[in-house]
Amino acid sequence: MPTDWIPSITCSVEPRYLAIVTALELDIQSGRVTTGCRLLPQREMAERLKISVGTVSKAYAEAERRGLVSGEVGRGTFVRSRDASRPYRISPSRIINLSLNVAPTTGEVADVASALTQVGSGNLSELLGYLPHQGVRSHREAFVDWLKEIGLAVNIDHVFVTQGGQHGLSIAAALLADPGRTILTESLTYSGMESLAAHAGYRLIGVPLDDEGLIPDALDLALKNTGARVVYAMPNLQTPSGSILSTSRRTEIADILRRRDAFVIEDDVYGFLCPKAPPALSTLVPERGFYLASFAKCLAPGLRIGLLVAPAAYRDRVVNALRASSWMATPIMAQVVAQLIRAGVVARHVDAKRQQAAERHRLAVDILHDYVSHPAPDPAFHVWVKVPPGRAVMDIVAQAAVRGVQLAPPTAVQPLDPGMLGFRVCLGGPQDLDELAEALQIVRSILDEKETILFT
Ligand SMILES: Cc1ncc(COP(=O)(O)O)c(C=O)c1O
Repeated sequence: MPTDWIPSITCSVEPRYLAIVTALELDIQSGRVTTGCRLLPQREMAERLKISVGTVSKAYAEAERRGLVSGEVGRGTFVRSRDASRPYRISPSRIINLSLNVAPTTGEVADVASALTQVGSGNLSELLGYLPHQGVRSHREAFVDWLKEIGLAVNIDHVFVTQGGQHGLSIAAALLADPGRTILTESLTYSGMESLAAHAGYRLIGVPLDDEGLIPDALDLALKNTGARVVYAMPNLQTPSGSILSTSRRTEIADILRRRDAFVIEDDVYGFLCPKAPPALSTLVPERGFYLASFAKCLAPGLRIGLLVAPAAYRDRVVNALRASSWMATPIMAQVVAQLIRAGVVARHVDAKRQQAAERHRLAVDILHDYVSHPAPDPAFHVWVKVPPGRAVMDIVAQAAVRGVQLAPPTAVQPLDPGMLGFRVCLGGPQDLDELAEALQIVRSILDEKETILFT
């Protein structure tokens, strides 16, 4: 029986050939693909997936090796019947992803769908044109109101609409540091900053962190010793450690920035989860602070809408950078976000995400208990897990993968103090608390073992 089965691989983080095999395993188990089905010929599958025939060949060979399919010369590749005495999987049937820092879903798809319908029946022709690089004023007004709701008062003239937080980060970094220059970051930092540095040629130097976040004296020393003039930091729910900088540390850091004539790129994409957060660092040094926020985590990353608040003196240069990098952020998507802010929908999702973060965090602390480093007062979608003495992070990550849990090793920008060794566990990906608990139990059991056992 032929099938036009096409695997869904766009959201997978595995290599593409493995993503095809994983999708096949899952679809066989769910009954979407049945015994005897003939898979599309390799060339046709490659064309449909827009990938190379070589990748499809590799996927089919791996599927055959796992006993999922058998190839018959001249006839094609067929899904095999399952032999219960010889399980065909050597990989877990289901991967629970604890590596991506996504927000738990709270029904945003339906809300975005209805906002898109409204946009379609509204001023669409205007939104399809070239509009101001800085962003449409009514969109920025809505964003200013939203910032007010999360505790930040800003002047609308200093607000720029970006294509997400990463875009704002690349613009701010480009304005502050030429390629080859040093940017100081927390010693464990966001992987997107590392990608940007690799792409744009910045040198990253890590500044030590403790349980409360960036250490002001260490920052002062690093600014002095390196001559760097740019600091990238996440005062709220630092990723990966999850710390929140206290008011006193923020004040100290603001003084240091002034004294050392330095600038801060303040990444606050998780700030909406902290209703009682101390004032943003950028508000303490508005003349040297570039503040980034995004609607990726409180609404949906695919909208690609974020915002940058920049010092007044940089206004024209930011406009030029927006023009140079993307002309403008997509007005249709900015309109969707603005509409959802005005209708109170974003605030509803913020509340729901905070609640989800609290529930998931509680579960993580219950299950991982002593291994969880510093539970912040406001929980994030991630926790920092300390690695027991004598165990290697990469081995734990590999062991979790064998048992069906995907973890990501931390990105570190300097040799770590052994006390900092650990990994980030992202809590937002699993579809519900049961699935999350299942994955966390696996992580816990691996941590409890005396040594790493990869194959059983
Ligand atoms: C700390 C941090 N900053 C920035 C971003 C980028 O956000 P966006 O998806 O809006 O580009 C992310 C996304 O994961 C993040 O975790």
